Amino acid sequence: MRFRLTLAAASILFFTRDCLASQSTLDPQGPQAEHLARLFWIFTGVCTFVWVAVMIVLLAALIRRKAERPDPLQLEPATERRSAAVVGGAVVATLLTVVALTALSYLSQRQLFAREKPAVTIKVTGLQWWWDVRYETDSPDQTVTTANEIYVPVGEPVTVKLAANDVIHSFWVPSLFGKQDLIPGQENEIQFKASRPGVYRGQCAEFCGWQHAHMGLLVVALPSPLFQQWMKLQSAPAAPPQDPIRKKGAEIFESKACIMCHTVRGTSAGSRVGPDLTHFGSRQSIASATLPMSRGNIAAWVVDPQGIKPGVNMPNVSIAPEELDPLVSYLAGLQ
Ligand code: CUA
Repeated sequence: MRFRLTLAAASILFFTRDCLASQSTLDPQGPQAEHLARLFWIFTGVCTFVWVAVMIVLLAALIRRKAERPDPLQLEPATERRSAAVVGGAVVATLLTVVALTALSYLSQRQLFAREKPAVTIKVTGLQWWWDVRYETDSPDQTVTTANEIYVPVGEPVTVKLAANDVIHSFWVPSLFGKQDLIPGQENEIQFKASRPGVYRGQCAEFCGWQHAHMGLLVVALPSPLFQQWMKLQSAPAAPPQDPIRKKGAEIFESKACIMCHTVRGTSAGSRVGPDLTHFGSRQSIASATLPMSRGNIAAWVVDPQGIKPGVNMPNVSIAPEELDPLVSYLAGLQ
């Protein structure tokens, strides 16, 4: 089953590679993002039209400029009447435009914040500088905890509850939804749908410290059956390592400072300071979408996280050269 899921996910990634990790408000991939893109184009169109009209009138005035009158203070009733009509008309047109754009913006807002019964509810907590992701389920043994990657079913409403533990962050997946702040002590909520399978990149959009720019995330939209399979795999504890190298890696992991911060469900590592690593190897990126997932990048990260993401909470842990390969094999094998 795991192989089938991987194969299906790989084929989706292959067929959507043109828009792989799309991150653009102008490339909407769901109804909410479509509302926002439509609003953007209407505003851009109307503002462009107004700007061009003003420029044309200004140009006409410059070209048709008349010679100075002998007595500038003397009024010509006909010209005055025409001027009053033109200025009055322009004021009315401006008012109508502003009112129409405000109404349009208000209607879009209503549609953006309309709620349906969600198929999935996810709690996302922003931390310096990564995203803790927890799926709300009815039974505690089905709990799915992950980090920096959010899997959602295509075409179904997904509710995301947003919280923060340290400073204000902002959740922004431009192809799916607008920005929403994560504020310590307050829970915000958004709901979105992804219309097509694909990978959509998101980014923290509120300056939150040194590594704010390296606080990315991926939203992976899968057809519902694949999503259910993913949930099932993710809710399982980590499979105990079988081969000797990974067994040694697990021992190294559990003897180092790693377990002071990370959870690997099914083992003695149960701390919640850093990202849950139970299925770490199944993710597409490391360190909040900073590096693509690969053995080389895992090695680089565990040896020198401070070199890759200076200021990050993960300290440089001393790892002997002969310990690196087993440790990387253990982490990469957490599928
Ligand atoms: Cu979190 Cu910027």
